[in-house]
Amino acid sequence: MTDYSGFDRHTFGPDFVWGTATAAYQIEGAVDRDGRSPSVWDTFSRQKGKIKTGETADIACEFYDRYESDLWLHKELGFDAFRFSLSWSRILPDGVGPSQGGRLNETGLAFYDRLIDHCLALGITPWITLYHWDLPQALENKGGWPNRSVVDWFGEFVDICTKAFGHKVRHWIILNEPLAFSVLGYFTGQHAPGRRSFRNLLPVIHHTALAQAEGGRIVRRNVPGAHVGTTFSCSPIDPFTNSARDVAAAARVDALLNRLFIEPALGLGYPDKELPFLAGITKKVAKPGDMERLAFDFDFIGLQHYFRAVVEHSYFMPYLWAAQVSPLRRSVPTITEMGWEVYPESMYRIIQQYGRYEGVKKIYITESGAAFYDTVQNGAVNDLARLEYHQNYLQQVLQAKRDGLPVAGYFAWTFLDNFEWAEGYRPRFGLVYVDFRTQKRIVKASGRWFQHLLTNPKPAAHNLNHSKKRF
Ligand code: FCB
Repeated sequence: MTDYSGFDRHTFGPDFVWGTATAAYQIEGAVDRDGRSPSVWDTFSRQKGKIKTGETADIACEFYDRYESDLWLHKELGFDAFRFSLSWSRILPDGVGPSQGGRLNETGLAFYDRLIDHCLALGITPWITLYHWDLPQALENKGGWPNRSVVDWFGEFVDICTKAFGHKVRHWIILNEPLAFSVLGYFTGQHAPGRRSFRNLLPVIHHTALAQAEGGRIVRRNVPGAHVGTTFSCSPIDPFTNSARDVAAAARVDALLNRLFIEPALGLGYPDKELPFLAGITKKVAKPGDMERLAFDFDFIGLQHYFRAVVEHSYFMPYLWAAQVSPLRRSVPTITEMGWEVYPESMYRIIQQYGRYEGVKKIYITESGAAFYDTVQNGAVNDLARLEYHQNYLQQVLQAKRDGLPVAGYFAWTFLDNFEWAEGYRPRFGLVYVDFRTQKRIVKASGRWFQHLLTNPKPAAHNLNHSKKRF
């Protein structure tokens, strides 16, 4: 067992940010209320076979109606920051706003205004994500991310939101995991809108990277003193063997999973040396001046880290010539409900990898967490495996900080059990259990552990010994 002595919130320093992260579509529900129009996820989740459990997020956690009591609970757990996203189609039901002929839904804006005010009243700092995957269906009907106009559509949305909330919200995140929604949404089709074509891939990547930088510029322009960042899904990549072929495969996967969106933002261009197909962007997709527009001076980078990837050379995956070696095949000791390997050291390594970029000033872990099967027994959820996950991953964050890496905060994924995209409600990541039949909330042992860590002045090592007996 790792030695946690000295591990408490004070060890991380007074400025370290402790938060949870959420996303609009995964928790809000109220999908057809008060003028919200459908997003691509509403459409996708209604198509047969797209969501493993056949579910939708029509109701989800009813956060739209329950945000007040939920945030009280968040406060009770001791977290000082709450990361949430804005539903684009709740604010702009036509996707575009008044400057492009669409409606502004004041009722939608008012919801977020109340939510922000409630956070502030409780002393919780709001961190807003501008795009967490829920493109308005109205814009998908006009071509979605493969249509270059998306950069202007998104720009207007960012402009409206920052003008509405910039006087009370300082922390802005432009995109949630660009790789996930571009590749899974338009190339493999596993996520909304479920399109599958290689032809779309390069335009989607390029428009996403452009929107990321443009979004940053708009926040900077509209919000004096803004703290602006964007987030990336990321995983250290290990070759399965030391063979030259596996090592080269790992470098290609690294370019795709870790470098594709950060390098253009840092002014380094796309990683087309490792992935020659990306050269098609400069040759065929980009317009003059685009390559300069891809760069933006972000104040911070959000890393969303869950697992490492081990890869080997493979002829079955065109362009990438690589495949993941599954945790099952490697007989790893702990695998989550998502099939992800629990490997805490990868947290240190990924912070180190991104910390090496000269242009990365500050890193926040904007998501990390684990789905394990939960059971309610005598009204309690003793989720020891999730608790240990957070302890062990946080230990690595602490080590990275001690070694001088610029890591400044940790947002647990996630506050409430919720709608886990194509997986439905089955995988539970929450620190708080949600009974989706009754909407009852039960703070899990992992949530109580955070509460100890964040609100108890005594060293956490003491609390841990104590909790071990109980769980
Ligand atoms: C991330 C997503 C988040 C959630 C977690 C488990 O990729 O950003 O919405 O689904 O994974």
